[in-house]
Amino acid sequence: MIPIFSLFHLLPLLPISLGQLTPSVTYNPPNPTQALVPSTGSPNAQWSNVLGNTLWFYDAQRSGRLDNGSYPNRVGWRNDSALHDGDDWGVDLTGGWYDAGDYIKATFPLGFTMFALSWGALSYGQGYDAAKQTEYLDSTIRWGYDWLMKAHPEDDVLFLQVGSSVIDNDYWGGDQNIPTPRPAYPINSSSPGTDAWASTSSAFSLGALLYSGQVWNTTTSSSPPTSPSLTNSTYSALLLKHAETLYNVANSTRPFVSYDASVPEITDAYGSTGYWDDLCLSALSLAIATNQSKYYSDAYFWYTNSSLTNNQKIWSWDKRTVAAYVLFAETSVARPGLAQGAGLDVNVTGWQTEAEGYFDKILNGDFKDAHVTKGGLLYFGEDSADNSLQPALATATLMFRYAPLASSSDKTQAYNAFAQSQIDYILGNNAMSSVYIVGMHPNSPQNPSSAPASGGDNIEDVRNDPPVEAHVIYGGMVGGPLRNDKFWDWRDDWVQTEIALDYNANWPSVAAMMIANNSADPFYVSLAVRTYSTPSGQPCDNALPCHGTSKGKIAGIVVGVVLGVLLIIAGLVFWKRKQIARWWRRGYRLPKA
Ligand SMILES: *[C@@H]1O[C@H](CO)[C@@H](O)[C@H](O)[C@H]1NC(C)=O
Ligand SMILES: *[C@@H]1O[C@H](CO)[C@@H](O)[C@H](O)[C@H]1NC(C)=O
Ligand SMILES: *[C@@H]1O[C@H](CO)[C@@H](O)[C@H](O)[C@H]1NC(C)=O
Ligand SMILES: *[C@@H]1O[C@H](CO)[C@@H](O)[C@H](O)[C@H]1NC(C)=O
Ligand SMILES: *[C@@H]1O[C@H](CO)[C@@H](O)[C@H](O)[C@H]1NC(C)=O
Ligand SMILES: *[C@@H]1O[C@H](CO)[C@@H](O)[C@H](O)[C@H]1NC(C)=O
Ligand SMILES: *[C@@H]1O[C@H](CO)[C@@H](O)[C@H](O)[C@H]1NC(C)=O
Ligand SMILES: *[C@@H]1O[C@H](CO)[C@@H](O)[C@H](O)[C@H]1NC(C)=O
Ligand SMILES: *[C@@H]1O[C@H](CO)[C@@H](O)[C@H](O)[C@H]1NC(C)=O
Ligand SMILES: *[C@@H]1O[C@H](CO)[C@@H](O)[C@H](O)[C@H]1NC(C)=O
Repeated sequence: MIPIFSLFHLLPLLPISLGQLTPSVTYNPPNPTQALVPSTGSPNAQWSNVLGNTLWFYDAQRSGRLDNGSYPNRVGWRNDSALHDGDDWGVDLTGGWYDAGDYIKATFPLGFTMFALSWGALSYGQGYDAAKQTEYLDSTIRWGYDWLMKAHPEDDVLFLQVGSSVIDNDYWGGDQNIPTPRPAYPINSSSPGTDAWASTSSAFSLGALLYSGQVWNTTTSSSPPTSPSLTNSTYSALLLKHAETLYNVANSTRPFVSYDASVPEITDAYGSTGYWDDLCLSALSLAIATNQSKYYSDAYFWYTNSSLTNNQKIWSWDKRTVAAYVLFAETSVARPGLAQGAGLDVNVTGWQTEAEGYFDKILNGDFKDAHVTKGGLLYFGEDSADNSLQPALATATLMFRYAPLASSSDKTQAYNAFAQSQIDYILGNNAMSSVYIVGMHPNSPQNPSSAPASGGDNIEDVRNDPPVEAHVIYGGMVGGPLRNDKFWDWRDDWVQTEIALDYNANWPSVAAMMIANNSADPFYVSLAVRTYSTPSGQPCDNALPCHGTSKGKIAGIVVGVVLGVLLIIAGLVFWKRKQIARWWRRGYRLPKA
């Protein structure tokens, strides 16, 4: 095997991007009591705050050197941290973001986050521009892509995680004592990860498209959506290069394999359930970014060959098929030439059938493992059990995107209305009258599960020590309530109160759309301030399982039964050993070599 150092010292210098836009107006999150002031005029001040805060959240998650002149730090209570990431491989992996309430950095879910942020920006640029958030969008997006480029130092090498979740899970405290070592985990051509290569490629493709300044005209109207004013063809070309090499490595490294098989150590935090969806979405994204039909042909091949039709899964960092339906539908309007160039007789009609099949099942209650809770939240069985709001927000985002392309105006209305109901739920129209974005309203959660924001360092009493969260991590959407619509605002209940990059990924897009559309105020503006009271009883979720229903107990029973059966078989074999030996000698003798 070639030692890693000989590979890396041949690398060209890593790109350093200092070309970021400077904000014309400094934005800092307002006091949550401002949420009670109805907006007047345009742009809508409340949606502008949702946009501003949900982007600010990404600043609070930053790792590495926070303030070096090129990316000013807005979060006074954060410090430089993890300045030796990548040293174990002789690469610079400092920077980027901490993934959630702890201190690992994770590439696979980051691919989803960057994809979602870029896709939304591409279509709702007017909203960013009007709210004067384009410069912050630029710095957020560059902070993410700059790190992803560092994590992709060679065509086939992609670092998927920095920090060990085993080490990290034993630590609760600030950003100055993050435990070391912080190992980095790569995939490469000898330890491949089709899904991670492809997913990261799709994120780069949409970033390249966003910075290219091309109009993503997905409407038949004469006033199509606009991208925000951050066009930079140099940066776009840089991103596109990474998108192409990653896709080509993913497509040409056989057999296809999930990264779970190559780096099992990291699947504790994020494991992947497959790669066909990632291949399809990455080929499609690259087709759009390059305007080349050969990638469209690949995308269509993955879609048909791996039976991605009639999917009934959520849109998340792991599951991406339904996002492909919507992007295919948009592509058939914005770039009809791609399918034609691939010699394919497909048009918007087919994608409408696919997308509407998915959405209508949700609306009609025919969706496998999904239902709307009593309080009105779209809840997807196991997929919502670790965080209930992200799947609902992602579905709402896709419905808003797709609604203008629907086959009838009734459907357009139905999708917009359902999507709006999910946004309203998250912003206060729920059984707890809670506004599930931290620091947005007086009724927002007070105890998000974020080690740096908590100010605590007592892992034995994360919930109460300190009694009051030290810092407000503005703009972070929490995991969310349980399927009974109840919410325990407990810092140690990561299911309900953790914050994460991927949970927030669709928020800026939704807020920018509301601004661009001159929509009415968010629900929370009319929500009475009340004192939160903890529901009675115990949450009984995956973070704080209750006696008798815990997964661990069920697993224990299953293991016990399997062991019992094995013991019985072993006993039978021992008892009948002579007969078995005779039978073996007679019938099943191995041929002589
Ligand atoms: C500033 O931060 C960026 C992003 O992490 C990095 O690429 C660059 O090298 C840093 N510059 C200095 C002078 O430290
Ligand atoms: C465009 O981006 C490149 C690469 O990040 C950067 O060097 C350059 O300064 C940027 N140009 C402008 C005008 O922002
Ligand atoms: C940042 O450093 C200061 C000074 O050492 C410390 O008081 C503070 O808790 C640190 N912030 C975090 C998030 O750990
Ligand atoms: C390839 O990745 C595997 C899995 O992370 C790692 O063990 C191996 O050292 C890497 N090989 C090279 C040449 O970097
Ligand atoms: C957007 O595309 C539609 C047709 O799909 C066209 O009618 C419209 O003029 C386009 N708008 C712009 C500004 O290109
Ligand atoms: C992807 O791989 C297939 C099978 O090897 C090949 O036919 C196809 O041309 C590749 N796609 C691209 C864009 O190179
Ligand atoms: C994409 O390519 C087609 C056909 O080659 C061309 O007509 C179209 O203008 C191109 N679109 C863009 C945005 O470059
Ligand atoms: C998928 O493609 C492979 C290789 O081209 C082919 O052997 C297989 O039959 C296809 N499967 C389906 C379901 O189309
Ligand atoms: C799409 O193609 C089908 C079959 O080729 C055709 O019946 C339909 O009218 C087309 N739809 C549009 C919008 O062109
Ligand atoms: C936002 O405006 C666009 C363009 O007018 C429209 O197509 C879309 O349906 C609107 N969305 C909502 C949720 O009102």
